[in-house]
Amino acid sequence: MKYIVYETPEQASRAAANLLEEVVAGTPKPLLGLATGGTVVELYRCLVQDCAAGKVNFSATRTVNLDEYIGLPHSHPQSFAYFMHQNLFSKANFQPENLFLVDGSGSIQEEINAFNAHLQANTIDIQLLGIGNNGHIGFNEPAPTFTCAAHTVALTDETIQANSRFFNNPQEVPRSAITMGVRDIVKARKVVLLAFGAGKAEPIRRLFADDEVDPMLPCSIIKLAADAVVIVDKALADAAGLA
Ligand code: GLP
Repeated sequence: MKYIVYETPEQASRAAANLLEEVVAGTPKPLLGLATGGTVVELYRCLVQDCAAGKVNFSATRTVNLDEYIGLPHSHPQSFAYFMHQNLFSKANFQPENLFLVDGSGSIQEEINAFNAHLQANTIDIQLLGIGNNGHIGFNEPAPTFTCAAHTVALTDETIQANSRFFNNPQEVPRSAITMGVRDIVKARKVVLLAFGAGKAEPIRRLFADDEVDPMLPCSIIKLAADAVVIVDKALADAAGLA
């Protein structure tokens, strides 16, 4: 696992977009593991821009998303499916049949079974990750143990609070979610974690502070990935004490 520091979040997002585009260009039917959240918006903007400019072609690209809130249909503006359509899928030449999105308003067990079957049958070529303030990846929250496969999770108060900025008030934030497990994340051929700003410095500082894999710091599992890169901006690097 290594890290790369860019001066600004925009430069970092551009670098991450280039990594995804290299995989798309170099793989016949690439599978991208995708994330949601404010951190990845600029990266998706880069992909959309490059697609419009003919620099990348997503017609054969497959995608699978990390997670989804339980209880929100895809039509809900705060569902992660809606986020993906708004920020990326509807603005570039992705084919609907190539996009795997969990339906948080469907039968939970059926959704999890389908998610696990899909992740077992396919290997993610590049997995994009953001990070929660508490070190969560996807919705793998700090816990005494890791969970390998896709599962439901009760969101921590910290995560509900952090994500309430996208809702009218904290009461509206779903209390649970379906998330990819950590095995599926680290099985990816390449893992790219993006984190920007001093507010995310603490989990990144802890990530590089030692050689441990600790379920109380879920992002630490990426130390087991074959090829993991953490891309940060200077504000975060300074606050986290990264050179
Ligand atoms: C949510 C998602 C995570 C994401 C995190 C950070 O909790 N489940 O995948 O990394 O938000 O979001 P942001 O980038 O908005 O800080």
